[in-house]
Amino acid sequence: MRFYAAPMEGITGYIYRNAHASCFPSMQRYYTPFLSPNQKRTLGSKEKNDVIPEHNTGLSVIPQVLTNRADAFLRAAHILSDMGYTEINLNLGCPSATVVTKGKGAGFLANLSELNAFLEQIFEQCPIAISLKTRLGMQQPEEVFALEALFSKFPVKEWILHARVREDFYKNTPHWSIFAEVSKQSKIPICYNGDIFSVSDYQKFLHTFPEIEAIMLGRGLLINPALVREIKGGVPMCAQEFLQFHDQICTGYLDTISGSHHVLCKMKELWTYWIQYPLLMSKQKEIKKIKKCRNILEYQNLVSNLFT
Ligand SMILES: Cc1cc2nc3c(=O)[nH]c(=O)nc-3n(C[C@H](O)[C@H](O)[C@H](O)COP(=O)(O)O)c2cc1C
Repeated sequence: MRFYAAPMEGITGYIYRNAHASCFPSMQRYYTPFLSPNQKRTLGSKEKNDVIPEHNTGLSVIPQVLTNRADAFLRAAHILSDMGYTEINLNLGCPSATVVTKGKGAGFLANLSELNAFLEQIFEQCPIAISLKTRLGMQQPEEVFALEALFSKFPVKEWILHARVREDFYKNTPHWSIFAEVSKQSKIPICYNGDIFSVSDYQKFLHTFPEIEAIMLGRGLLINPALVREIKGGVPMCAQEFLQFHDQICTGYLDTISGSHHVLCKMKELWTYWIQYPLLMSKQKEIKKIKKCRNILEYQNLVSNLFT
């Protein structure tokens, strides 16, 4: 099985990726949160900063792009190709209303003729391989069969399929029966994504889909950064490892983000996931304090005293 770390906007930027790879070296690759090229500018400075090779040394990274304009996609692809990337991932799954109403992300799945024209142009002119990350559709999971027919016309490197529709957002359970049908039918290599939170979730998946060779992990990996090590039979993350991982991320943010208030916000977002990890579940009171704290020195103190 190949394990991929999912793109998570605002979270899995290069600071997080580097800390994760150095503390829990278990992932085949990391996908960047989406880059959003438009008519005015191809990549913003924050986006460039996330993908430049100096910030991703030794990591296997696939940059992801969110757009419905072929010219913008191709301009981004050329920049990424010049940086040395050999694959680019197209986001066709983002469910957020602001994205969907502009016909991007999952919203693009509702317009097959425009999507077809877009794919024809990018597959003809893109200098590097293209993979897709999609949902099953906008409203009904059965929409995926028409998508499969469309995608199969193009040399798609890999199809990462989040087994929900846009209407599900992150609720409800992934539609495994539809995923089973489409993955049997598809000639494109498929990577599964959705709700693998534990070793037992993984084992259940493997038992049901022994032929699938790649899984993408999102929230499960945020909650438990050592999930893949555990899946491979290794030991669960201990307190000391967690603190080391935490400190590496926090120091990375302090070194690169101006204003400790912004650093605190970013760290607090991570705590919404970490609080769900078994080792930390018994520390609800302490973590509540951490999430309320407004000063970075006090924050660092609270975290370093968490297990004492
Ligand atoms: C906070 C957050 C940010 C996300 N950002 C992105 C993104 O930038 N690109 C993308 O393709 N998916 C994004 N996703 C979706 C995840 O990559 C993944 O598909 C989703 O969480 C389902 O997988 P999981 O059940 O393993 O978490 C995001 C999800 C969350 C919760």
